[in-house]
Amino acid sequence: MEANMPKRKEPGKSLRIKVISMGNAEVGKSCIIKRYCEKRFVSKYLATIGIDYGVTKVQVRDREIKVNIFDMAGHPFFYEVRNEFYKDTQGVILVYDVGQKDSFDALDAWLAEMKQELGPHGNMENIIFVVCANKIDCTKHRCVDESEGRLWAESKGFLYFETSAQTGEGINEMFQTFYVSIVDLCENGGKRPTTNSSASFTKEQADTIRRIRNSKDSWDMLGVKPGASRDEVNKAYRKLAVLLHPDKCVAPGSEDAFKAVVNARTVLLKNIK
Ligand code: GTP
Ligand code: MG
Repeated sequence: MEANMPKRKEPGKSLRIKVISMGNAEVGKSCIIKRYCEKRFVSKYLATIGIDYGVTKVQVRDREIKVNIFDMAGHPFFYEVRNEFYKDTQGVILVYDVGQKDSFDALDAWLAEMKQELGPHGNMENIIFVVCANKIDCTKHRCVDESEGRLWAESKGFLYFETSAQTGEGINEMFQTFYVSIVDLCENGGKRPTTNSSASFTKEQADTIRRIRNSKDSWDMLGVKPGASRDEVNKAYRKLAVLLHPDKCVAPGSEDAFKAVVNARTVLLKNIK
């Protein structure tokens, strides 16, 4: 039996699952759970001390699901407490704050912490991850846009939702899709159904979009040395255009990346004799 298979009483009837929340301190993990379970929002920050535990029941198709939620503290200080709770998990709610780039950049470190705690025999492949880009109500402070978050999530085969624990936007849809995916996983013998596990774009496309987004100038964007010839610029442009053309590439952010590449080429060719 798979290590992270849930306990099941009768096939087709009730199911018990374990879900954990992960992400930096103050990104809104506890508020997202509270919004869904208690339909309310608390604006005062009450840091989770170690772990908060709760049980809730949900209905998915004909099954009653008993969900054990372990809401983790994001502060590094609580590492020793939360590291006990990673094992035997079927679902992870991975949260970042769209106004805090650090919390988005930290997502990889959260996955690494979980992987380390699960040890060499732990299997992250057969866990459903949902990424919550939270606090979307704070539009003025937003610094991680949707396509950047979606690209990160979908290139890993994770679900992605834009949420606000304050207004409730996206919260019910997120939990519903999350639980349905977990039930699908359980009914598939504890393995992620193939439709969820593979992205509809390649790693090369995702990496290229990220590289373009972070490039410092037009040369860098096309991946050529400053002072490159017209031929070199055109060759680099053609390669990127084939990879990212909106007719061929469905990766989040590909349209903007394609436009940026067209623009970079125009700018460079104007100045090359
Ligand atoms: P730790 O328990 O320390 O790991 O933090 P946490 O991720 O559980 O954060 P928590 O849910 O306690 O929320 C942190 C702060 O962000 C609180 O002041 C919340 O009121 C606020 N907050 C949470 N979600 C939202 C949101 O969607 N919008 C806005 N505007 N504020 C939010
Ligand atoms: Mg908390």
